[in-house]
Amino acid sequence: MGSPKKKATGPTMAEQADRHALYQASVQNSEFEIDFMDTTFEELTGRKAVSMREDFCGTAISSVEWVKRRRGNTAISVDNDPEVLDWGRQHNLQPLSNDQRKRISLIEADVRDVKTDKVDMIQAYNFSYWFFQERKMLLEYFKSLRESLVDDGVLFLDIFGGSECYQTQKEKRKVDGFKYIWDQYEFNAITYELKCAIHFHFPDKSKMKNAFTYTWRVWGARELREILQDAGFSETIIYRQEFDDETDEALDEYVATEDAEDFACWLGYLVARP
Ligand SMILES: C[S@@+](CC[C@H](N)C(=O)[O-])C[C@H]1O[C@@H](n2cnc3c(N)ncnc32)[C@H](O)[C@@H]1O
Repeated sequence: MGSPKKKATGPTMAEQADRHALYQASVQNSEFEIDFMDTTFEELTGRKAVSMREDFCGTAISSVEWVKRRRGNTAISVDNDPEVLDWGRQHNLQPLSNDQRKRISLIEADVRDVKTDKVDMIQAYNFSYWFFQERKMLLEYFKSLRESLVDDGVLFLDIFGGSECYQTQKEKRKVDGFKYIWDQYEFNAITYELKCAIHFHFPDKSKMKNAFTYTWRVWGARELREILQDAGFSETIIYRQEFDDETDEALDEYVATEDAEDFACWLGYLVARP
């Protein structure tokens, strides 16, 4: 008799998974984001937007949604990581028609250095501008965004606030076929530096830990509005996510408001106009 056989096991679900595909499925809702930007831009300016720049674009899924939306739409997508841009090229741009693909320009660059043609709308999402921890650095970035917008252009930033930003915490959410875990694992109450990570857990109990990690400064809505003003934006509007009155569940509805009395957590868009 030989030694007892080890049960043959293949790769785990975590080993087989693609972190960018998981990210897109659990974090992003590009259709909703583009709906919001398209209607808000038209409400604010009285015309339809044509050109969009997507900063911190990652896989550029939002730019893809934008060029699919209308035939004339164009997108400039900026990220400084060649690996994620390549993934986007292969998985998101490749399936487009030639005409749609030609209307997207992927640029590998730091968003602080890039010089692009003026556009109608700029988006910087998933709180990525929170990478910039110094006021001066953020101000310079906002100034460059102001210069990259046409006269009636609109800047869209996402933002979250409330007491839960200023603490460590974990949030789990079920997504089709896996669990998404948002982990605020370190917070400095003096510097407001927040370290966060995204983990993915699978039904076979395997885990992809630290699929993405971020070190941010938690910026408050009020100070951001002041910095935007210093950068030359004349108007800022907060669109806060609404909650169901009865169940308290977050809805896919964002309203312009200044009201968030004693909220533990709110998500929204900070919209700025030149
Ligand atoms: C959290 S992802 C955001 C992806 C997508 N925009 C979203 O809303 O989910 C952040 C992206 O920003 C990129 N990034 C970080 N710092 C950058 C910088 N200074 N310039 C350009 N891209 C940067 C990273 O490579 C990464 O792809």
